[in-house]
Amino acid sequence: MTDSTIDPRITDLRERKDEAKLGGGLKRIEAQHAKGKATARERLDLMLDKGSFREVDALVMHNSHDFDLDKQRIPGDGVITGFGTIDDRLIYVFSQDFTVFGGSVSRHHADKICKILDMAMRNGAPVIGLNDSGGARIQEGVLSLAGYAEIFFRNVMASGVVPQVSVIMGPCAGGAVYSPAITDFVIMVKDTSHMFVTGPDVVKTVTHEEVTFEELGGASIHGSRSGVAHFTAENEEDALFLVQQLMSYLPNNNMEDPPFVPSTDDLLRQDEELDSIVPDNPNRPYDMKEIIRRIVDEGQFLEVHAQWARNVIVGFARLGGRSIGIVAQQPAVLAGVLDVDASQKAARFVRCCDCFNIPLVVLEDVPGFMPGLNQEHGGIIRHGAKLLYAFSEATVPKLTVIVRKAYGGAYCVMNPRHIGADLVLAWPSAEIAVMGPEGAVNVIFRREIAAAKDPETKRNDLVADYRARFANPYIAAANGFVDDVIEPHESRPRLINALEMLQNKRDRLPPKKHGNIPL
Ligand code: HXC
Repeated sequence: MTDSTIDPRITDLRERKDEAKLGGGLKRIEAQHAKGKATARERLDLMLDKGSFREVDALVMHNSHDFDLDKQRIPGDGVITGFGTIDDRLIYVFSQDFTVFGGSVSRHHADKICKILDMAMRNGAPVIGLNDSGGARIQEGVLSLAGYAEIFFRNVMASGVVPQVSVIMGPCAGGAVYSPAITDFVIMVKDTSHMFVTGPDVVKTVTHEEVTFEELGGASIHGSRSGVAHFTAENEEDALFLVQQLMSYLPNNNMEDPPFVPSTDDLLRQDEELDSIVPDNPNRPYDMKEIIRRIVDEGQFLEVHAQWARNVIVGFARLGGRSIGIVAQQPAVLAGVLDVDASQKAARFVRCCDCFNIPLVVLEDVPGFMPGLNQEHGGIIRHGAKLLYAFSEATVPKLTVIVRKAYGGAYCVMNPRHIGADLVLAWPSAEIAVMGPEGAVNVIFRREIAAAKDPETKRNDLVADYRARFANPYIAAANGFVDDVIEPHESRPRLINALEMLQNKRDRLPPKKHGNIPL
């Protein structure tokens, strides 16, 4: 066969294999660097174990002839795909190359990502997507939309089977936001990454609002206001380091346990400082993160959604080398009350831990659900129900420590024994009742207080009496709802012991297609 009988594209590719490594060319690479952004390949080198990356589909090109696109066929077509390792564990990756048509998604670009998702699901390993894309490739029209929809479908099929992480490292507009939104974790880079369904120009046309990229969809907005981003990183290196840290807490797939990381921290360590963190005055705040750090291995806690709904804390740590998911109130923010955002944040985290076999540890100090018009009209009933639902259906080992308040509906929601907790421990400072003493005496002794000579003194006496009778863990313990009242300094060894006791836990939900969680 002579060269003239071979498809010219093939001859072309033979000569251009190395060119694939340069993407859209040196000029565009320089422009990428000038924005403080690394190239798609440099990012993979930073994230994966040295020399472990194996590329697939480096020679795939788009197949479009419209708008003179056939004059610009770049091998790889704007996305680098393949597999490698992080800490010697298999990881599938795709990394969009902004230097090629702005990383926009053509049909073949989408096919490459779909192939990676299929391989990951078949072989049971996580998928990390490094996103840097102008969205659907405009010149390809519906072919590009079809490609996007096929990515979304696979994201959904892979959900709960293998961990999926999206790192946003540039623009992410239109359809490009919905793949990350389906994945388990979204990491955004400060200043250089943006996510929005419609950009500032469209916003101005439709709503007449003038907004910058940053105000509309920067990392700080999505990390603190919308809750779209689970983590915000200072820069790209920080974001890729976060991926490595996150992976260390997650299993490769839903059939495996998370990696065991032997602890250098004494399993029997008792921290006497814990005994004095909770103030004597039940209305005084304290920092729950201090308690978390004093209990977990080496004080290491990877907080998720650190800036959003800060009245609840969620994140990963280890106890005795085992990965755990912590859900805790933060009394230092809004007294640790459960509101719409806190309920959604905690519910999503509980379900994430449950699908990846990560035991849950709850540290509870909750005065109740947030009252008020704003919350009721915002659907606190519907959103609070998500958390109740999530804890109830979780089958992983579930432990609760009642640190201080466990009032009303919030007691029922925050993983009590009644909805499946495997072990409930309480500190002596625990207060478990239908409502706080002040609210309770106002309801049940209204007439007595009004008739008293000195209503204020009467109210104070009644509050003190109520507190002595109800605001403690002993009635719950006498009913078997609390398994043991422990000293705070015993928390670490007792929780490690409980996780050991539960390591062979087997639990199943009743047979059903799927439940109907109030979304
Ligand atoms: C084709 C694109 C492109 C796109 C960018 N480029 N976006 N090519 N399709 N969607 C090309 C540009 O022509 C340019 O090519 C190069 O990428 C870099 O783009 P610039 O605009 O020069 O870069 P910058 O100034 O940094 O701006 C980046 C940007 C902007 C913010 C992403 O390009 C932009 O707004 N693009 C359009 C975004 C968008 O509306 N996408 C469609 C969303 S709708 P040259 O050759 O000059 O280097 C969607 C529907 C999916 O995604 C729905 C699924 C449910």
